[in-house]
Amino acid sequence: MLKVLKQKNSHQGLILFIKMEIINNENQAKEVLKDFSDTALVPTMGNLHSGHLSLVDKAKEVGKTIIASIYVNPLQFGINEDFDSYPRTLHDDLSKLEQAGCDFVFCPSENILQNIQKYKAPDISKKLCGKSRPTHFDGVVTIVRKLFEVLNPNYAVFGLKDYQQFLIIKKFFKEHNFQIKILGSPIIREEDGLAMSSRNNLLTPEDRKIAPRIYEQLTSIRNNINNKTHNELIVNSIEAFKEDDIFPEYLSILNPETLEDAGENDESVLIAIAVKLGNVRLIDNILVN
Ligand code: PAJ
Repeated sequence: MLKVLKQKNSHQGLILFIKMEIINNENQAKEVLKDFSDTALVPTMGNLHSGHLSLVDKAKEVGKTIIASIYVNPLQFGINEDFDSYPRTLHDDLSKLEQAGCDFVFCPSENILQNIQKYKAPDISKKLCGKSRPTHFDGVVTIVRKLFEVLNPNYAVFGLKDYQQFLIIKKFFKEHNFQIKILGSPIIREEDGLAMSSRNNLLTPEDRKIAPRIYEQLTSIRNNINNKTHNELIVNSIEAFKEDDIFPEYLSILNPETLEDAGENDESVLIAIAVKLGNVRLIDNILVN
């Protein structure tokens, strides 16, 4: 379970040897982290898979001290969403993070929400996922801001799998003048193309079989983007999805900065989709540059 001890230089010139340490509250975070510089944060809600761990690798490229956080944030779940059934696997998660080379893991208790200041996400939060999850991104920026305030990282890494989330976070913290550098990291997929997600485990075996159609259609749109109009591409994919009884909540070709419909000749586009299979909502995207 224990990894090789890491060597850190404290600012008093002492050499500290540490293994992964778990931090449970704000005071402890401030006390423990004050001696560390070049910190990179990977915020998560746990139930970790290789997608999350790839963010730890990205964090290691830029930071010297790697902090992950695990917190299933109730503020970002709607009333009828899956907060209660969201998979919680703390023991396994800690062991994966330690193996991946994390230095600290912040696992706050519900106290973190006490007197929390709530924030509104920028307007692009009303598009795409925001249409069916109107308060989701407000909950995301509120908790991420709290994590930033408590942990004060130099860098923070987010997956491009949740592209809209990444864009909103970048915009929000720029508007609020935070100095933290926010980095995006590529989508990690299963062998059959399905984007890794903690929610994949909740799919029925039948739905798991058809789930790879999502990436297949995104790829097909990308491959034909110069041969057909955007409307034709979307209509063709919607038809193909019908064969498997899949009815996307949205499937759009967008400007990657504004999330407005892309122009036919735009070189850089985001192809984004949300699909509900049974009770499980999946999102995916391809960024074409
Ligand atoms: P969670 O869904 O646990 O995801 C944590 C991070 O992992 C996010 O940045 C997400 O984009 C990234 N991620 C998930 N699956 C990925 C994949 N297949 N490839 C690459 N990156 C992937 O996103 C959240 O938690 C929360 O909203 C959070 C930011 C922690 C705020 O509560």
